[in-house]
Amino acid sequence: MTLAATVASTYALDVVAAAAGVALVASGLLANVGHQWLLVFVAASYACWGHGLHAGLKANQALLTTTGTSTNLLSKAAYDLTRRRTGSARAARLAAAAGYTTAELAKEAPYYAAAFGTAVVSDSVTSREALVFLGGANLAAALYEHGLARLTRAFLDRRRGRYASFDTDWVPQDYLDGYYRTVEPDEIETIAFFVDAMRHAERGRPVLFFGVGPTLHHVFAAAEVASEIHLGDYLPANLAEIRRWIDREPGAHDWRPFVRHTLRCEGVSHPSDEDVAAREDLTRAKITELLQVDARHPRPVDRRYATVISAYCADSATDDRATWQLFMRHISGLVRPGGLFVTAALRRCRGYTVAGRAFPSADIDEHDLRAVLQADFTPRDGSIQVRHTAQDDAHGYAAIVLCRARRRTRPDHG
Ligand SMILES: C[S@@+](CC[C@H](N)C(=O)[O-])C[C@H]1O[C@@H](n2cnc3c(N)ncnc32)[C@H](O)[C@@H]1O
Repeated sequence: MTLAATVASTYALDVVAAAAGVALVASGLLANVGHQWLLVFVAASYACWGHGLHAGLKANQALLTTTGTSTNLLSKAAYDLTRRRTGSARAARLAAAAGYTTAELAKEAPYYAAAFGTAVVSDSVTSREALVFLGGANLAAALYEHGLARLTRAFLDRRRGRYASFDTDWVPQDYLDGYYRTVEPDEIETIAFFVDAMRHAERGRPVLFFGVGPTLHHVFAAAEVASEIHLGDYLPANLAEIRRWIDREPGAHDWRPFVRHTLRCEGVSHPSDEDVAAREDLTRAKITELLQVDARHPRPVDRRYATVISAYCADSATDDRATWQLFMRHISGLVRPGGLFVTAALRRCRGYTVAGRAFPSADIDEHDLRAVLQADFTPRDGSIQVRHTAQDDAHGYAAIVLCRARRRTRPDHG
């Protein structure tokens, strides 16, 4: 997409700027202006162009950080490389700006070559006309940059308007009420899969849950295996909801049906109330950290884990596939070599509703998941499975993808 956008915008800029330059010369509007005023005009046209460039640069930054794409290939390459190498969002933004400006300056070269080259080799174009041409081309380029910036902003605004925002619209209680009053088909499958996955986890090590939301239903499966459980989410309100459950506050969510299902999946055919309470107590004792995390950050937590579990987080936090890939790389990057990554995602879903509000989903499937993990995780020692859950009417998705994968101890060069 970036390549296509770069080619299209370069071509459009060239056509618009060159046509404007030629039209200004042909119009004869500046034919009788004195040489000094002509130089002032050219200088002013550069100022306008610089202003347009600034607007374009800012819009490009917004496009890059929200979607991972750009209308300038060099800018995106610089952004991605710097982000991967340094892990610093600020350094990546500076690199993106440098890439954008360099590419835009390079686009100026053909105008100098065309204008002054023709003036030197041919008598049909005077140096005065070359200056008028440059000024006209600069003004058109400025208008073009402003137009492109406006278009980019309008595109981003429309995307933003389509979905509710975690920062302003997410209400933990609504999510719990809408999805976790009973154990629904997707969770029957997810919990069974997670229980099985925990048989492959290294025992006696801390386990990280990334993007846990206000929920604990997946956490019970890890309580016996983990030495400690660390729960991470983007929203403090979600972590506060978990804290209420840990502290047994009145009104805290009732997770007992999910604990019971977990125990059944583990092979306890008729879990008693005491069994359920014992697992809740064990889980409370193992949770040692509540962490505020952000998948947009290349290193969302400053340590690596033998086991990381992230359910319905990366795919349920964005509607953009490139952003999902980025989030997945950041989250799975928290698994240390040889460690286990367990994840779940809504399959081919564009959005799910919470209390009537649509939250985004990345519209991914099992092939996307395999592709995003294959560089660092071995598919042979793992499993990716699809379960059809037919919850389209209630929640907006018909299937889920479940995955367990082991991180390679060495990078794969094959
Ligand atoms: C659909 S909920 C899933 C919660 C829980 N894992 C579950 O299975 O119910 C999506 C979660 O992603 C979290 N999230 C959204 N943006 C995030 C980000 N940038 N970094 C980390 N988590 C994020 C939200 O706070 C929310 O808790």
